[in-house]
Amino acid sequence: MRIAIVGYGNQGKSHAQNIRDSGGSVAVGGRSGSRALSEARSDGFETFADPQCVANAELVVFALPDAAHRASCPPYFAAMADGSVAGFLHGFSVHFGCVEIPPSLGAVLVAPKGPGTALRSRFLEGFGIPCLMAVGQGGPDAARTRSVALAWANFIGCGRAGIVETTFKEEAETDLFGEQAVLCGGILALVRAAYETLVAAGYPPLLAYTECCHEVKQIADLVCDRGIAGMTQAISPTAKFGAMVAAERLDDAHLRSTMRELLENIQNGSFAKALAHDAASGSPKMAAFDRALAAHPLEAEGQRVRAMLPWLRTASGQPPRP
Ligand SMILES: NC(=O)c1ccc[n+]([C@@H]2O[C@H](COP(=O)([O-])OP(=O)(O)OC[C@H]3O[C@@H](n4cnc5c(N)ncnc54)[C@H](OP(=O)(O)O)[C@@H]3O)[C@@H](O)[C@H]2O)c1
Repeated sequence: MRIAIVGYGNQGKSHAQNIRDSGGSVAVGGRSGSRALSEARSDGFETFADPQCVANAELVVFALPDAAHRASCPPYFAAMADGSVAGFLHGFSVHFGCVEIPPSLGAVLVAPKGPGTALRSRFLEGFGIPCLMAVGQGGPDAARTRSVALAWANFIGCGRAGIVETTFKEEAETDLFGEQAVLCGGILALVRAAYETLVAAGYPPLLAYTECCHEVKQIADLVCDRGIAGMTQAISPTAKFGAMVAAERLDDAHLRSTMRELLENIQNGSFAKALAHDAASGSPKMAAFDRALAAHPLEAEGQRVRAMLPWLRTASGQPPRP
C-alpha cells in the first residue's frame, strides 16, 4: 500500500516511522519551506511539497493541526485518485464540517490513544497503544476503505493492543470532552486553584507545587495501571478517606452543570467555531493563554523541582527541560 503522510509533527513523525519499520511504503508531505519536512528528509523519507504528488497514494494521512485542515486539505483531495482514502487522526475537522470529502474518496479515522512519542516508543518495545478506528465515508469501495483503515492501524502497531471501532462523531466529541473536562482543562483548573489556595494561606510555594502538581504523575500512573478503585487501594487510609470527603464536596451541582455546558458547546459546534475563529485571526487567544501560563508562579516552582530530580524522564523518554 502506498501511503503519504502530510505533516511530520507529534503524530505524523511516529506514523511515518512505524509504517516504514512495518515494511510499508511511505512518503512525507508538507508545505514548502517546512521545517518538519526537512526533518523528515534527514530521517531518510522521500518528501514532497506539491499536493499533486499524492496522485498515486492509496492512503493520504492528514497529520496536520486540526485548525490547519480547512486551508490545507482541499488541494490534496483534488489530487487524490478516485477510490483512494483520506486518513484522519481525529474526527474533528470532518465531523464539524471544516473539510468536505469528495464522494470519490473514502474517509477514515485512526486515532491512537496517546501522544506520538508513546506510539513510537511502545512500537519499538514490541508493543502498541490502542486506537479508535472509524469509517466516515466508504467511497466507491466501502470494504476496501475499511481494510485500508485496519492496515494503517496495524502498520503503526495499534493492532498489537486494540483497535476499537467507533464513528467520527463519537471520537470527536468524547475526545474533546475528555481533554477539556479532565485531562487538560480539568487538571489545569484543579492544580492552579489548589496551588493558589495553599500559597494564599501562607504555605511555601515549593510545597504547594510538589503537593498539588508534581505528584499528579504518581497518582495518574496508579490509575492507569490499576483503575480508580485500584488507585485508592494503593494510597494510605488517610489519603483514601480524604479522597472520599473531597470528591463528594468538589463534585457538586455546579461542576456537573459546567461539564454539561462544556459538552453542549462541543456537540453544537460552538467550540469548533471558537477555535476556527481564533486560528483565522492568528490565534491571539491561544497566544495570550501561552503567555499567562508561562508567567504563572507554578512554572518557576516546577523548574526548581525538576532541577532537583535529574533522574526524571519525560513522557518522550528525554530528560526534562529545565
Ligand atoms: N498530539 C497528539 O498527541 C495527538 C493525539 C491523537 C491525535 N492527534 C491528532 O493528530 C493530528 C496532528 O496533530 P499533531 O499534534 O501531530 O500536530 P502538530 O505536531 O502540531 O503538526 C505539526 C505538522 O503540521 C505542520 N503544520 C503546522 N502548522 C501548519 C499549518 N498552518 N499549515 C500546514 N502545515 C502545518 C508542521 O509543519 P511545519 O514545519 O510546516 O510547521 C508539521 O509537519 C491532529 O488531527 C490531532 O488532533 C494528536
